[in-house]
Amino acid sequence: MENEIQLRTESPIAILAQRLANIKQRLTKYKPIAGEILHEIDSVIDMMEGFERYADECTSLESQQLSNLNKITMQTDWNRIFIEKKSKVKLMTQMMSSKVSGQLLKMLVSISRSKEILELGLFSGYSALAMAEGLPEDGNLISCEIDPYAADFARQYLDTTSYGKKIQIRVGDALNLLDDFAFEGKSFDFIFIDAKKTEYKKYIDKIVDKQLIDQRSIICVDNVFMKGACFSNAEKQTKGSEAVKKMNQLLKSEKFFTVMIPIRDGMTIAKLR
Ligand SMILES: C[S@@+](CC[C@H](N)C(=O)[O-])C[C@H]1O[C@@H](n2cnc3c(N)ncnc32)[C@H](O)[C@@H]1O
Repeated sequence: MENEIQLRTESPIAILAQRLANIKQRLTKYKPIAGEILHEIDSVIDMMEGFERYADECTSLESQQLSNLNKITMQTDWNRIFIEKKSKVKLMTQMMSSKVSGQLLKMLVSISRSKEILELGLFSGYSALAMAEGLPEDGNLISCEIDPYAADFARQYLDTTSYGKKIQIRVGDALNLLDDFAFEGKSFDFIFIDAKKTEYKKYIDKIVDKQLIDQRSIICVDNVFMKGACFSNAEKQTKGSEAVKKMNQLLKSEKFFTVMIPIRDGMTIAKLR
């Protein structure tokens, strides 16, 4: 179980648990360390590892169809698919939302009674399916994906579920597709942003400028911690983390009502004031 979370997680706290375990190993190699210090380090690691695991254990079970998609996604050799040039993007299993994130999205869609959902970043379709499960009978979801291989993979699986017909996939760059949606006069009750990190702030700017949302719409954004780089200057900053920090600043401005949730790699829920 621990291994599974370590492999899948992008959560800063789980990353820290791994780093602390490495430090402990190195410490014991160089010097005899007092047993009580090692015990203290072990108990810190145990608490850090328990953080995600306990949230997972105390969250409702995912549906069988989500569980199957999770398994299929985990069993797929995405690296080989990229090396064989079948996918344009280097896709990775850890891109997929966790069970807790998926259930949170489903819960938010359900309690907000959202009917029109937009997702930026589909990958294998896990978060799309989780959100679709929260939709009413007449609800719809559009998901944008730049990689045709990922889009086909998700389409094939989603069509085996009863939610496939509610989910439309648009292949292309999310930023360009937002222009198309504005041109088509679309507006959304719920938008989940999980595509290109360097464009996060541009997504929000465009969604607001093009009036793709109204005062009641909910915006949900994943990876707002960027594995800790957003809040730790000791971490290497990347173009992605700089862009996400700018978006985080925008979302905490007066214009929005925003809550940042420390779930996995951080998820923000925001709406216009
Ligand atoms: C983190 S994954 C999405 C995971 C999915 N939402 C889930 O939780 O299961 C990000 C996806 O965005 C796609 N992507 C990257 N850049 C994009 C862009 N500019 N426009 C649309 N999709 C993009 C990637 O190919 C990848 O499949």
